[in-house]
Amino acid sequence: MGTVLETTTADPATGTQSILAEGALTLDTTKPMRVLLLENIHPDATARLTKASYEVETRAGALSEDELIEAVRGVNLLGIRSRTYVTDRVLAAAPDLVAVGAFCIGVNQIDIAAAARRGVAVFNAPFSNTRSVVELVLAEIISMARRLPEKNMKMHAGVWDKSASGSHEVRGRRLGIVGYGNIGAQLSVLAENLGMSVYFFDIADKLALGNARRCGSLAELVESVDMVTLHVDGRPGNSGLFGDAEFAAMRPGSLFLNLSRGFVVDHAALRAHIESGHIAGAAIDVFPEEPRGSGDEFVSALRGLPNVILTPHMGGSTEEAQQDIGEFVAGKLHDYVSAGATSLSVNMPSIALPTMPGRHRLVHIHQNVPGVLASINRVLAEHQVNVESQMLGTREDIGYAITDIGTEYSAEVLGQLRAMDVTIRLCAIRCS
Ligand SMILES: NC(=O)c1ccc[n+]([C@@H]2O[C@H](COP(=O)([O-])OP(=O)(O)OC[C@H]3O[C@@H](n4cnc5c(N)ncnc54)[C@H](O)[C@@H]3O)[C@@H](O)[C@H]2O)c1
Repeated sequence: MGTVLETTTADPATGTQSILAEGALTLDTTKPMRVLLLENIHPDATARLTKASYEVETRAGALSEDELIEAVRGVNLLGIRSRTYVTDRVLAAAPDLVAVGAFCIGVNQIDIAAAARRGVAVFNAPFSNTRSVVELVLAEIISMARRLPEKNMKMHAGVWDKSASGSHEVRGRRLGIVGYGNIGAQLSVLAENLGMSVYFFDIADKLALGNARRCGSLAELVESVDMVTLHVDGRPGNSGLFGDAEFAAMRPGSLFLNLSRGFVVDHAALRAHIESGHIAGAAIDVFPEEPRGSGDEFVSALRGLPNVILTPHMGGSTEEAQQDIGEFVAGKLHDYVSAGATSLSVNMPSIALPTMPGRHRLVHIHQNVPGVLASINRVLAEHQVNVESQMLGTREDIGYAITDIGTEYSAEVLGQLRAMDVTIRLCAIRCS
């Protein structure tokens, strides 16, 4: 593991700077990184970080803003899920914080722009639950094609209704995927393995996997297939993407699924098309308005319909996904601390340089203005410090430079880099 020797931030409000960890030129083994993990994050995350010699504190619940401000003092890495809000106020009270891990998919609960301005990297787990969603989609397609929701209800009511009428295999059926991203593309592969013919529509250029056929428009897809499943992202333009006109354009007897975002579908229109018999079945996991917690009443236009599967936004909720999220985000936090790697960070430029044991690595987070790299290199050259490798990335207002140097350097080098007007944070790492 690499060791963070020193990390320094400039206070964006005052422009003053403070040293957060002493020991710039020696390995500071007396100060392990302090980690706070909230909201019952999977134990594999704790195991991973403890193995890397971090000091990990875990708490079961979420914290309010004031509680978090209290708890985050002296913490270097914070792990949360969806119910803890990391606001600018929290970040301002946490000068030692270098990174936040969102052990979930969404990052709406974190002020990621404020975090970037303060030199705090944010990571999440964008892929960890995609397989779970895909498996639920396939299970629901087969369930609806065999009319399992109805058959199951009748059996529980004591009715033996053995009949093949309206019951179908999925082999050879045409599946239309709207949104061919992480989930849509994975579904495409597994659906083909079940013998389905896959069509997809995406607004971005996407490589068609296997024998999947690309459609030029949503309208072309809708009229080509026996079932439509939505896997688009949550951009505002997708509000009301699927409404009365789109349902009407579907083939009679089609199936419809939405496990993406609640606001993309007009549920009143869907109800009307199910009641008319035009849509033969639907599976819906996400809703425009969802209850705040377990036990709260679920209100929806889709309640009480036959052959409609309603699930409480649990497409990605499996123990496997939680475990994968725990390992993935803990790994991202460790890679960041030990090597300055920002791959897949949601608010920092994406940079990862291979590490070489014994090398010194300087990570310089700065305001993205012209000439910063030249200024960094001028300081290094003036102190006869030779650059072994270097990489700069920028993202909106933030610049992120990694510089590897093979030799020792004086404290003055760090002092001058830290003193640059544009410096947000400076980290010195010894790679091992
Ligand atoms: N139900 C759950 O529990 C659950 C779990 C995980 C993800 N999700 C949701 O599933 C959705 C897909 O997730 P992902 O990881 O595959 O996202 P992604 O960002 O990898 O893919 C989304 C794709 O949709 C495309 N797209 C966006 N708008 C479109 C439009 N109007 N028409 C066609 N294509 C469009 C994008 O170009 C992109 O390729 C997201 O909304 C995500 O929030 C739900």
